Amino acid sequence: MKAKNCLIFGGTGQIGRNLIRKLARNNYKVTIITRNIHTKGNFIKTQANAGHIDIIEANPFNENEMKPFFEKNDICINLVGILFEKGKRNSFTNIHTNFPTMLAKLAHQNKIQQLIHVSALGVEKALDSEYAISKLNGEKNVLKNFNKAIILRPSIVYSVDDNFSTTFMTLLNRLPIFPLYYNGQTKFTPIHCSDLTDVILNIMKKNIDSKIVECVGPEILSFKEILLILLNSIGKKRFFLPFPLFAAKITAKIFELMPNPLLTADQLRLLKYDNVVSNNYASNASIGVPAKKSFENEIKKYSYMWRDGGQFSRDNSFD
Ligand SMILES: NC(=O)c1ccc[n+]([C@@H]2O[C@H](COP(=O)([O-])OP(=O)(O)OC[C@H]3O[C@@H](n4cnc5c(N)ncnc54)[C@H](OP(=O)(O)O)[C@@H]3O)[C@@H](O)[C@H]2O)c1
Repeated sequence: MKAKNCLIFGGTGQIGRNLIRKLARNNYKVTIITRNIHTKGNFIKTQANAGHIDIIEANPFNENEMKPFFEKNDICINLVGILFEKGKRNSFTNIHTNFPTMLAKLAHQNKIQQLIHVSALGVEKALDSEYAISKLNGEKNVLKNFNKAIILRPSIVYSVDDNFSTTFMTLLNRLPIFPLYYNGQTKFTPIHCSDLTDVILNIMKKNIDSKIVECVGPEILSFKEILLILLNSIGKKRFFLPFPLFAAKITAKIFELMPNPLLTADQLRLLKYDNVVSNNYASNASIGVPAKKSFENEIKKYSYMWRDGGQFSRDNSFD
């Protein structure tokens, strides 16, 4: 079978790195557009055999520069996303709305076979969040300009490579008291990165199009349950301090002054909404790719790095 050519934006991130390995193993040829080949190029090069991977440093927002890549590829996947805004250019509107709109127009003009756009779960509900509004507008524009597009809406995506479980384990390790927003009751359906990339691969293989797919893991966990699983895995006990909303808003405003804020006012608003399937759209299970990996089992595979003494700390061979 002739290898399909696949153009990936945001391929150097958590989901992209996992996806590239899987696509290359399945005989896809991938081209990754990155803003800076020096920071991530060497690592990305090792994710696939030579001949299956091409890394291009370019300005992904320059339509003329991107056009030739659309002429050469069969499939386009957009994984570019941000959690907080930084300056005028790196705004939610530019990254989550304007950029995917441009990709959809190019996909249409160049008769791309498939456009897979990764959005986020719950964006229809959280309409007081700038992040959610920008993602939702991005979805609408993608579908308007390329009606065959597939929109994926994942819940939290975790893996050893993430910024979620790993950051929380670091914080839980260091902080004696941990703040709980909304009493830790917000529900999530964490999906393992590898389960999510299985969904993407399946969509590509089966040529599925024209759908919004909500992508969730096998369990519904409250934020507090997630923290307890992480604490248990790293062998620590911590005191949870329920934070009243006004105090949470003040801390978020202070965090926003940092270059990489732990929490922003917008994320705080987003945290109010349960991150679970709406049942109004297809899901990874309904398209035949249910997620298999349980949060606790997967976390145990790498949480030892945050335990005092590492993975052998509970080994009694020295006794
Ligand atoms: N991770 C999750 O829990 C989660 C949950 C729901 C939805 N999503 C969505 O899934 C997609 C991929 O997630 P991810 O966790 O793999 O993302 P990620 O690791 O945070 O970032 C993906 C890539 O986006 C590019 N990027 C980041 N900021 C950019 C900017 N300001 N301008 C242009 N490019 C920028 C970077 O590529 P270069 O530096 O190489 O250019 C980066 O490697 C995103 O759209 C995200 O919103 C993720």
